[in-house]
Amino acid sequence: MANLVRFGVSLEDALLKRFDQLIKEKRYSSRSEAIRDLIREELIKKNWRSGKEAAGAITFIFDHHQSELLNKITSIQHDSHSLIISSQHVHLDHHNCLEIIAVKGKPRDIEGLFNGIKAVKGVKHATLTITGKGGEW
Ligand code: NI
Repeated sequence: MANLVRFGVSLEDALLKRFDQLIKEKRYSSRSEAIRDLIREELIKKNWRSGKEAAGAITFIFDHHQSELLNKITSIQHDSHSLIISSQHVHLDHHNCLEIIAVKGKPRDIEGLFNGIKAVKGVKHATLTITGKGGEW
């Protein structure tokens, strides 16, 4: 088993309260376990960012009544057409649409596309899920 090293962490009490709430919600057994998980997550993100190829999905919700929003989103996607494998549009309810875009390409380019979509006014929530195999496909 690997050597365990103890270290101290200083946090504002309000931030620690929110962290403890998160620990409860995610059902971690201890703060140490939660911190280990966060560190691993960041290291995985760092790895895929430095990789040459990655694949993933951009998922976002928006109100299609917002003026110019659909045009902007379509235009952004056309500008990055080489990254996009497929996309799916779902009419969630009278106002809201859900769009899922499957992407493949350089991690930095994928992140650029994601940031562009997320920044469009009227996009209520956007997530980027990325995966990679640690090298080229
Ligand atoms: Ni729709």
